[in-house]
Amino acid sequence: MYRTHTCGELRIEHINNTVTLSGWVQKMRNLGGMTFVDLRDRYGLTQLAFNMETNAALCEQARKLGREFVVKVEGTVQERSSKNPKMPTGDIEIKVEILSILNKSVTPPFTIEDETDGGDELRMKYRYLDLRRNPVRKNIELRHRMAQEVRRYLDAQKFIEIETPVLIKSTPEGARDFIVPSRMNANQFYALPQSPQVFKQLLMVAGYDRYFQIVKCFRDEDLRADRQPEFTQIDCEMAFVEQNDILDTFEGLARHLFKNILNVTLEDKFPRMAYDQAMTLYGNDKPDLRFDMKFVDLTDLAKQKDFVVFNQAEYIGGICAEGCAGYSRKELDAMTQFVQKPQIGAKGLIYVKYNEDGSIKSSVDKFYTEEDLMAWVELFKAKPGDLLLILPGERNKTLPQLSELRLEMGERLGLRDRKKFVPLWVVDFPLLEWDEDSQRFHAMHHPFTSPKTEDVPLMETDPGKVRANAYDLVINGVEIGGGSIRIFDEDLQKKMFDLLGFTPEEAQDQFGFLMNAFKYGAPPHGGVAFGFDRWVAMFAGIDSIRDVIAFPKNNSGRDVMIDSPSPVAQAQLDELFLKMVQPK
Ligand code: AMO
Repeated sequence: MYRTHTCGELRIEHINNTVTLSGWVQKMRNLGGMTFVDLRDRYGLTQLAFNMETNAALCEQARKLGREFVVKVEGTVQERSSKNPKMPTGDIEIKVEILSILNKSVTPPFTIEDETDGGDELRMKYRYLDLRRNPVRKNIELRHRMAQEVRRYLDAQKFIEIETPVLIKSTPEGARDFIVPSRMNANQFYALPQSPQVFKQLLMVAGYDRYFQIVKCFRDEDLRADRQPEFTQIDCEMAFVEQNDILDTFEGLARHLFKNILNVTLEDKFPRMAYDQAMTLYGNDKPDLRFDMKFVDLTDLAKQKDFVVFNQAEYIGGICAEGCAGYSRKELDAMTQFVQKPQIGAKGLIYVKYNEDGSIKSSVDKFYTEEDLMAWVELFKAKPGDLLLILPGERNKTLPQLSELRLEMGERLGLRDRKKFVPLWVVDFPLLEWDEDSQRFHAMHHPFTSPKTEDVPLMETDPGKVRANAYDLVINGVEIGGGSIRIFDEDLQKKMFDLLGFTPEEAQDQFGFLMNAFKYGAPPHGGVAFGFDRWVAMFAGIDSIRDVIAFPKNNSGRDVMIDSPSPVAQAQLDELFLKMVQPK
């Protein structure tokens, strides 16, 4: 028998019990006649004691152990003379009687401690060692518990978990597909699913009116902290529902997870905000509502004078940073440099300080009188001590710039508290977005999303104005999930493909199976998918989803541990009828 208990289990009430433990050597201390070893497993640490005086041979054996050796010990639980209140097992130790080395270990390339000396790339290369560390293990355990709670909630709501295939045909979610050549079908390829979208719709046609799946999705897109090429969705679909039924059901899921995992009670009804309003007030379709700082539109008021920059601007908007009028030259310069970063791209930043003593100081004093600026201050509802930060430019470029500035100021002012959670449904997304490069409309969500009934006539006259029955769940400025009510009418679906620039033949070729299925009694349906990795990362209080994935890819999409992607043998290529071309 390898163990009677785990390394996290023994307490004072186990004193005098004979036990067997197995685990990894965390660290060793030689103190005069005693040697102490901390033995670690997934559950915790237990101190092992070896006494030179009572058993010299065993103590010598213990002194030869190295970090991360795998050992089994048998012995007696005894009370410690110096207790460690920081350790759950800190009241006891094991007086070891038999020590067996189950396996040796070479010295690990970094320390297996909460604060390790290993850099990112090294930890990824030896991810199995990194996974031994407490902070990483905690994230993986959290992920497991969340998955169990998702299943518990959805099962109770009569959802059934159904697996869908991974070798499929392209699903249009807006990213590039990963493709897989077929050996049995020369010169033909499968695509890996960007999501199970079409399958879950087919399951609705099949009558499985509540489906879910915790499922891997694959998207070949540029990676960021919140994006991986393979990631996990909680994917759901329901039949005979309207938008409100879906929002209510999944608010329930969110509340269940927050309560059962974090013991946080969320409000009963999540606020809802139209996409247009989110853009106008926060410059962002995923506003962080942990703090206010709404945009104020200064366009009309500021254009009245001779300031060319403003007079040429389509839009002038700003935010009011409370209590920041005392910002120094240096701090204001830092903010200017922030908005001028290439990824943000503003030309400059205009400020108005509404000082504590009621005076006003601004970077546009030359063009505006104190009275003019006081009118701005009033429009912003600023109080003495506040600072107005203003950006001018093209509306669709300035809104996102101002959004970055708002988030940065929120961060600086400590308003983005990780312990506070503010959920929001963003609704009424546009159905289509115009793409300058290809000079055509793209589906903002995906091509199966239904337009609002009252907007259907606009599909002919002003497609850009059509609103969709689409929604995103946003928590603290993170897009946790998104979905829509689907088109279930063959003719409307054809019209949508037409708007997206598919010829009838192309639509038939790519989605004929779906349109065909709609001929056989498709029920009204809709669904949603949540980014499971993002949700776990949020609960763990961290930014990067890499830290909540057991074996993630790095920023170049590589798994540096198994060294993938990698070349394949010529024979394999031949079998697949593939010829390599060197990149230019
Ligand atoms: P969507 O494309 O919005 O919708 O994806 C749903 C959620 O998945 C997460 N997500 C990602 N997480 C990590 N890495 C990525 N590369 C990544 N891409 C997306 C986000 C996002 O909100 N089929 C539709 C859903 C539906 O209509 O039911 C879909 O996939 O949190």
